[in-house]
Formats: sequence, C-alpha cells, structure tokens
Amino acid sequence: MRLHTLMSLLSLRALEAFGQQQWPLHDNGFNKVVQWDHYSYIIKGQRLFVWSGEMHYWRIPVPELWIDVLQKVKAAGFNTVSFYSHWGYHSASEDALDFESGSHDFTKLFDIAKEVGLYVLFRPGPYVNAETSAGGFPGWVTTGGYGTLRNNDSRYTDAWTPFFSTISQIVSEYQITTGGHVFLYQLENEYGNQWRNPIARTPNYPAIDYMERLQSSARENGIDVPLIHNNPNFNTKSWSKDYSNEGGNVDNYALDHYPSCWSCDLSECTGTNGNVPDFTTYDYFSNFQQVAPTQPSFLAEFQGGSYNPWPGPEGGCTNTTGPNWVNVFYRHNIGQKVTSMNVYMIFGGTNWGGLPFPLVGTSYDYSAPITESRTIGDKFQETKLFGQFLRVARDLTKVDRIRNSTNYASTSDIFTTELRNPDTNGAFYVTAHTFSPSTALTTFKLKVSTSVGNLTIPQYNSSIVLNGRESKILVTDFKIGNEKLIYSTAEVLTVSVQGKHPLVFLWLPAGESGEFFLGVARHGKIAKGDAIFGVTFHQVSGGIVVSYTQIEGSAVLEFDNHVRVVLLDRNAAYHTWMPSTSTDPYTPDDSTVVVQGPYLVRSAKVEGNSVKLTGDWSGKTRFEVFVPSSVRSVIFNGKKANVEKTSYGSLVGTLTGSPHTINTIQSKLPTLVNWKVKDGLPERSPDYNDSRWIVADHNSTQNPTVPATYPVLYASDYGFHTGNILWRGRFKSSNQTGVKLSIIGGTSVGWGAYLNGAFIGSWLGSNTVTMGTLELSFANATLKSNSTNVLFIIQDHMGKDQTSGATNARGIYNATLIGGGLFSSWKVAGKAGAETNIDPVRGNINEGGLHAERLGWHLPGFDDSSWESGSLEKNLTSASANFYRTVVSLDIPTGVDLSLGFTLSSPPGSKLRAQLYVNGYMFAKYIPHIGNQVFFPVFPGILDYHGNNTIGLSVWAQSAAGASVSVGWKVVEVVESSFKLGDTSYLRPGWKDRSQYY
Ligand code: GAL
Repeated sequence: MRLHTLMSLLSLRALEAFGQQQWPLHDNGFNKVVQWDHYSYIIKGQRLFVWSGEMHYWRIPVPELWIDVLQKVKAAGFNTVSFYSHWGYHSASEDALDFESGSHDFTKLFDIAKEVGLYVLFRPGPYVNAETSAGGFPGWVTTGGYGTLRNNDSRYTDAWTPFFSTISQIVSEYQITTGGHVFLYQLENEYGNQWRNPIARTPNYPAIDYMERLQSSARENGIDVPLIHNNPNFNTKSWSKDYSNEGGNVDNYALDHYPSCWSCDLSECTGTNGNVPDFTTYDYFSNFQQVAPTQPSFLAEFQGGSYNPWPGPEGGCTNTTGPNWVNVFYRHNIGQKVTSMNVYMIFGGTNWGGLPFPLVGTSYDYSAPITESRTIGDKFQETKLFGQFLRVARDLTKVDRIRNSTNYASTSDIFTTELRNPDTNGAFYVTAHTFSPSTALTTFKLKVSTSVGNLTIPQYNSSIVLNGRESKILVTDFKIGNEKLIYSTAEVLTVSVQGKHPLVFLWLPAGESGEFFLGVARHGKIAKGDAIFGVTFHQVSGGIVVSYTQIEGSAVLEFDNHVRVVLLDRNAAYHTWMPSTSTDPYTPDDSTVVVQGPYLVRSAKVEGNSVKLTGDWSGKTRFEVFVPSSVRSVIFNGKKANVEKTSYGSLVGTLTGSPHTINTIQSKLPTLVNWKVKDGLPERSPDYNDSRWIVADHNSTQNPTVPATYPVLYASDYGFHTGNILWRGRFKSSNQTGVKLSIIGGTSVGWGAYLNGAFIGSWLGSNTVTMGTLELSFANATLKSNSTNVLFIIQDHMGKDQTSGATNARGIYNATLIGGGLFSSWKVAGKAGAETNIDPVRGNINEGGLHAERLGWHLPGFDDSSWESGSLEKNLTSASANFYRTVVSLDIPTGVDLSLGFTLSSPPGSKLRAQLYVNGYMFAKYIPHIGNQVFFPVFPGILDYHGNNTIGLSVWAQSAAGASVSVGWKVVEVVESSFKLGDTSYLRPGWKDRSQYY
C-alpha cells in the first residue's frame, strides 16, 4: 500500500515535470460538500482560502458577548472561526455532562457564526492542550485510574466516549452538510504519534488504535465533514493519507507553528525555536509537499500572539508579535503556498476559576488581535489589512509556486516568491527581506510577467520600498470585477463591486510612491486628493499606468472604464471597513460596502435607498461610505446621519462625539469601600469542627507517583480538582520537634502550615518549583502532650499539568513527623461537594476549597450583615486570611460598550495570594511575588452594569508579616456601540445554604 502511495506521488511528479500536473480532487467519501485538492478547500464547489481565527467560548463565559467577538472576527476579514471544546469544562464527574447551562451551551456560537457569515472549524479534543488545566481533561480523569491517557487503554476509552459521542452528536446538527457552518472537525490535538519512527514509517499501534477509535466515534455520531489533525511540528508527519496508508489517517493533514515562541517567556522555546524571537521565517512548503502534497497546505494553528506566564510582563508581549510581525509572517505563509490557516488566538479571553494550567495566571489575553477586554488596536488592524486582501484575492486559492529567489528584485536583499494561478494567469509576488530580521529600508524594482509582457516595475516611479520588518504582496493580472489590474506596487486592500463597477482600494505607508496599471482604461482623473499625491496618468498600450506618492489620508481616482481607485495610507486603511450585506462566509465582492472612519463597523444592510450600518465610535467621527449609487441615506446604529454625496459618488457625514469618555465613566464609578470582613481561614484553629470533611484514609492510589508517606494525600483521589485544598492531620504528641512536608501543587505552588493554630511556616512558591519541601520546627507552637495535636495545611493548586503530566498529583507527597510518631488521621476539604453540588451556571471549575468558597460567601445574596465592617487597607498582621465582601451598584450609560476591570495592588515585598470574585465568578488570582498581572478585565454580564454587584476578595497572607490588598476599577475603553448585551441575570445565580460544607 505504501508503495502504491509512493508510486502515485512519483507519477504526479513526472506529470509535473511535463507541466501537466493534474492533482486529484478528494472528498471524504461521505459527501462532496467539502472537497479539496493540492491547492485548497472547495466548499460547495467554490474554492476558499480558509482564513480562520481561534477563540475559546469557555474563556468568555457570557454567551451574550460571543456575537461581539465574532462580528470583530468577521470585520477583520476572516471567513472561519475555530473553537476548541474543553471536556473538563463540561464534565464535573464521570456521570455528569453539561452542555446546557450558560456558556456550556456552545451551540449558540454556531447560530452566531451563521448569522455573521463565518464557517466553523470545531476542535472537540478530547485533549486540547490550550494552557488549560490538564489540557482540558476533567479532574476526575487525571487520578491515574484511567491510565496514562491519550492512548487506546479501554479505561480511558470508556471515559472519553460519553463526552465525545455527545459532543459529536451536538455538532453534527450544525454541519455544512445539514445547512450549518461547521465544515471541519479536528480529532485530538498535536498528537503526532502515528509513528515510532516517522522516517522509517514504523507504526505506533496504540496511538493508531486511539485515533481510529476517535474517528469511528465521530463518524458513528454523525460527523460527516472532513476530519483533520494538527501536527505539532515538521518531524511527526502523522495521519496523512499522502504519507502512508497506515491506520488512523484523517482526511486532512495540518501543521501548527509558533515561529516567535508561544510564550511571552522566550526561554520556554529555546529547545524548539532556537534563539527566539529573532524574526526568522520558516519553510513550510517542503513539509507540505513531502507529507501532504495532494491536500491544501494547512496551518491549523499559526501564532496569533503568545500566552503570558506568571512572571511574564504585565499586559503581555504584543511587541514580539506586533503589527510588523503580523505583516511579515502572514504574508510569508502565502509565499509558502499555504491556503488554510487558523490564527491561534484571534481572541484569548480570561482564564477564570480553575481554567489555567500551572504556568499561567488569570489572563489569556494572548497578546491577540482582539484583546481580553474585547478592544481592537493596531495589531487587529494590521491583521485586517491582510485578511481583507485575502478575501478578494480569489486567485490565491489555486496557485503554483513558480519560483522563489533573489533574482526578481534589483537587489539581492529582497527575496521574492512568485505564485501563479494556472487557470487565470493571475500572479502574486511575495516580497520580503532576504534576511527576515532585517530592519533596513530597501528600495528595489521588480521583474514581473503579466498579460502585457514581462515588465520591470515600477516603470515610472523610482522604486518599491520595504521599510524594515515589512513584506508586500504585489499582484499582476488581478481580477477586479470584470476588469483587471495588470500590476500594482501598492498592496490591494479590498475590491468592492458596486453597480457592476469595481471600486479598488490600494494602500501604502505614507511617503512611499505607488504605481498601478489598470487594463483597458484610457483616461483617468483625480476626483479627490490634492496635488501632493503627484498623480500622473500614463497612457500605454493595453491601459493606463498611474504613478503617485501616497501621502496621509486618501485620494480617489476615476477612470473611463468606470473603475474607481481609492489610494490610502496605512492609517486610513486601518480605519476602513468592508461590511457585507451577505451572510455568505465567502463574502462576494458585490456584497460589500466600504465605510471609512469609525472605530468599528459590524454590519451593513441595504434597504431601498438606505444603507443601515452598525458599529462603534467614540469621538466626533467623520465617515465616508462607498455604496451603490441608488443609496442616498445612511442609518448608523438606527439613527439617520446627515450625509452629502461627493462628486465621485460616496456619501460623507459626521457621527457626533460620544458624551462618554474613559475619564467620565471612570470618575463616576462607585468607590470600592464599605467592605465587610471575616476570618477566611478558621480551619487553622485546633477547635475547628471538621466533622463534615472527607476522611483521607486511602492506603493505595492509582496515581503514577507513589507517595512517600501514607495515607494517600492526593486531592484528586478524594474528588477535589481545583483551587485551594485544605488538609488537617492529627497526631498524639511524643516529643516531635517538627514536621517535614513536601506538597505538590504545580509550578508556583504555595502552602502554609499551622500547628494547633500557630503558624509554623510556609512555602511561598517559585516559578520553577512544582513541589515545595520544608522541614518546619514546632518551636513556635505549643505541642499538646497527651492529647491530639492538629496540623492544618492550606495549599494552592495551580491547575494540572498538560500532556503526559496531566496525572501529576496535587497534594501532600510527604508528611513526616520529626522526632517520631505517626499521624493518626487526615481529613481534606476542597470544592464544596467535590464532584457534586456544581454551580448551576458557573459550573465546576469556578471554586476551590477556601472556607469562603465552601460556604458560598463569594456569591451574590449571601447575608453578611453579622460581619464586621472593615477596610481593605486594614492589614492582616499575621499569616492568616481574610475574606472581604462589598456590594456596589453600577449604572453605566446605555448605548455604550464599556471594557472594565479591576486593578489589584499591595505594598512592595508582599507575600500573599489573593482571589477576586465578581458576582460569584473568580476572575482574578493575584500573587505579586509570583506573577506580574495587576489588571484583571471582567466581562459585562459577569458584572451587572445596571444593578448591584457583589465583589468578594480573599487575601491569604503567606508570611507572618501579614498582608493587604487594594482594589480599584480601571476603564479600558468606552465606545458608542450598536452592541447590546441583553439580559444576563441568569448568569449570576445567588447564594443557597451550604452549611453542610462547613
Ligand atoms: C499548541 C497547542 C495549543 C496551545 C499552543 C500554545 O502547541 O496546540 O493548544 O497550547 O500550543 O499556546
């Protein structure tokens, strides 16, 4: 069979050599709705460059906000959105699956994707990685009782089957084959395990068996779209039908790549990326041609930013994947002949509750184009310039890579890749610095082949410019409606065909000269723009060449063949939007209108002689709308705007400035005072009544790590998988002088110990240590002779490790009394009710075992009237903990979209661990000696903008010096917006009696 594959590849190569390459057209054998070949995906007969962005619904647990994110994804020019699921988010226990409550019902996303016009790549797992606890495995799967996981062990198979079957059934209803928008389904994640030796193609049967089981399960449960898989690197070469006929192959091979490190801590990537980030681009083409030549070259994850580990810089590291990175690296992928790509992440979101794995804290902003606060800036806009070009560069879906070399340009400092569509002869010249990290300003001319002959461009201007970390894709024979651009040295931003006539937007950095050749046209005139553009029309055989210098702003040119060309600088391009009146993800060129000016345009509808636009803006904003000539009025967010028609047919008007600014909103927010306070750690007292706690008495564990002492004190063995874990060990005094404790909590774990109520020491934590070991003396405590002594321990649980580390224990590895004697008993407390008593909407990951959490003090409606009044600034003066509550009423103006959050601060040198709860949701974990995050965005919907909000704060002072934390509001952005949140009260259910979890 393998020989057969090789033979067919050889004969393909031979055909190629004679220039007669015929690539096979594939489908998955179930239907022909989604087909593919060497060039691209073909959906319902139409080729599509799959341009996708990743978001995780479980990191934005307010379903009412999903449309906001998806509209922004669409506005950036994407045609696809990708979602990981998260088994652990949906499954609190072996017997429980929640796909209904709040954000657990992700099917709303499919409806929104359809409404907005995006296809969906769905990635259910069962393992997803994603910097989430245990890579998305539920806590109950990580005990060791289901084996080492991610293989064909029947215990593991039985565990994932209910989840995987159910999710496949749910998704099957939304597939493109039944009228939905889900068109690809990914099995597992970065499971490049098909081979024991990928070069020798030595099969790894347990892995193959696992993939086959997943595949059968997906098919049996109704998935009939292509199955894909994302290889973690070039070497694994797994699951490609072109590479072998071994079992487990999926329909489409794909690759993941993070050329500038997936972490803001660059040292995490030295093993794979070398000396990152050095702005080095990579060769993907060879890998795709070797492993999957008859399939579209698919980067199922391509870097959209980086996660920020605990010690990473506050606010992330956009600088390493900023606008210039987006510009160069995304264009580079075009040169690699990639035609399917998913940006990981387009929107990161928040790692609330127990979502994070140990290396990261509460933010998953990911320095992504759409920030955690849902705002958009230059990185988003640069992504949009690329995405909007892709949208109209239809010929890119079928290109051969003709050549790549330094011979195209007049200097060897410029490397060019020529891609050409064999059917239309349209070509794309991807130009970049030969040395990709170069910051030089390089000028050059370029040799191109066009339908009017071989040319060296520009012909009239002096040169094309690449200013340092910049790349340009220059087009030849580029279709614009029924007309053609023979070439352009400015990049194409978009083409909108209105009333059959094309409107072309070309952009250049201000100050650079541009030149384009418009076929057929004989005459052109400047309809807008002053003389400094230096526009010159050169009549040539076959059309007209226009040379100009781009200055700030825009110019409009009109031609006798009814083509209008708008020339823009980068900033004007950033403020240009192309909403579509169609919900087709393909976004036909004749379905778009072009709007310049506002912060965001979300949608457009043409009704009679009006265009109805929705979007966001803040200050007084001049706007210009390019619409079909029949349209005479503009309705923006439901209000008619005064507009005038320009001589070249667009409509211009002004949106009045919003009365609401960051400052006006910030100054009106209620101050966070009137706190109530209560001891947050009563369990340290020897008299605390732990009769309702779980007895920790197991003498054996299935965990792969054999504990040093017994009973087994691993939290997951007792059903506790998230947050803080509390332990109480009893022993009779026999002259012990101390205790040796080794406690595992994952990187950055912290813990503290008390003997008979007296603090005896704590492990403060470090970013590299997963288990804190200390020998603590009893000298500062009072040992009770002839009666029972109580050792109390509070430990933090930083989430579970990913990949093969998912089963690593959290708990006490070693508890040894120094000086003799044994513990007579142990008890443990974690999340109230362990795997039961799940919060009806917030779900199973929100809480841990803090006293406040067990009793529900963090929830709205808990009665704290008997508590003392306190202030946050009134310090904890010892190693202990407090829980603070306050209720504040918000009355945010309607009609605005406000991005809000909390800042947490403490005196320098503080050793504390704090958690902030907003209407019951744990949205901030603040550990100043471990991490740098001080600002914590909180979504509207978690916050009630028009009512009372319960804010809870747990402060655990890890050292005898005590601690204090200050909390403040921070307004990130406020815009007038069409976006309306709707009723989210169901997301904030109130307190119910939990005294049984005392
Ligand atoms: C990939 C993985 C993702 C995520 C990413 C880094 O390797 O597939 O789930 O972990 O790395 O953010």
